[in-house]
Amino acid sequence: MMMARRRLRGALPVRSTEELRTMRAAGRVVAEMHQAIRAAAVPGVTTGDLDLVARGVLDLRGAESNFFGYYGYPAVICASVNDEVIHGIPGSRVLEDGDLLSIDCGAIVDGWHGDAAFSMVVGTATDEQHRLISTAEAALAAAIRAMRPGNTLGDIGAAIEGVVSAAGYGSPHNYCGHGIGQDMHEDPDVENRGVPGRGPTLREGVVLAIEPMLIAGGRDDVRELSDGWTVVTTDGSLAAHVEHTVVVGAHGPEILTRL
Ligand code: MF3
Ligand code: CO
Repeated sequence: MMMARRRLRGALPVRSTEELRTMRAAGRVVAEMHQAIRAAAVPGVTTGDLDLVARGVLDLRGAESNFFGYYGYPAVICASVNDEVIHGIPGSRVLEDGDLLSIDCGAIVDGWHGDAAFSMVVGTATDEQHRLISTAEAALAAAIRAMRPGNTLGDIGAAIEGVVSAAGYGSPHNYCGHGIGQDMHEDPDVENRGVPGRGPTLREGVVLAIEPMLIAGGRDDVRELSDGWTVVTTDGSLAAHVEHTVVVGAHGPEILTRL
């Protein structure tokens, strides 16, 4: 999401066991959408076809889309290709062998939200594409490992920043992860950079959507296209975006958007 640039007052919200049960159900639907889209994303299909695949899963599970209609957004997925970082609008674009595709989508079940993204290469990947996506996944994994009671939001940001900068990649400074619950975007902003030990403390039951965004060329700036949504790299280099909805659990972090 776009950084809200607001300061959180007080402690991070905590979800009850019952609320987490429902968030698990929402997360499962998102994971199923991912699985179906991954299988369908082959050369020759359009990004609009993938939006239909995602709608099919939502319908099958009786879930609602949190993307469709969000500030007028016209689809249930974001499909961002190559130099598109996030918020690409699916449509008539035909996917080709070697396209780097980032898919972001979410679902609402009984009023509770899930939100997750993945990056993949359609057809055959280059080593450089593989390294970019693997680094994004490693940054997300490091951030998730930091989601323990007593750690802080700064520990999460620092974990992402450490992996991304060590690999020589950039990360847009004006987009971030977020709290998630009965709205898709809740407090706090979860920045993809940070200082260990800074910021609000994580407690059991805190749920966050963590979303590293990586720019292969190493710059930290992006630009929005005239469609009002699509965010692209300024240097035309490739981008990757991965995201999970994760709860700080008693026995370690639990990823809600994974099967
Ligand atoms: N997961 C996206 C984010 O957190 C939500 C995109 S909103 C939409 O930024 F309107 F583009 F769908
Ligand atoms: Co998100």
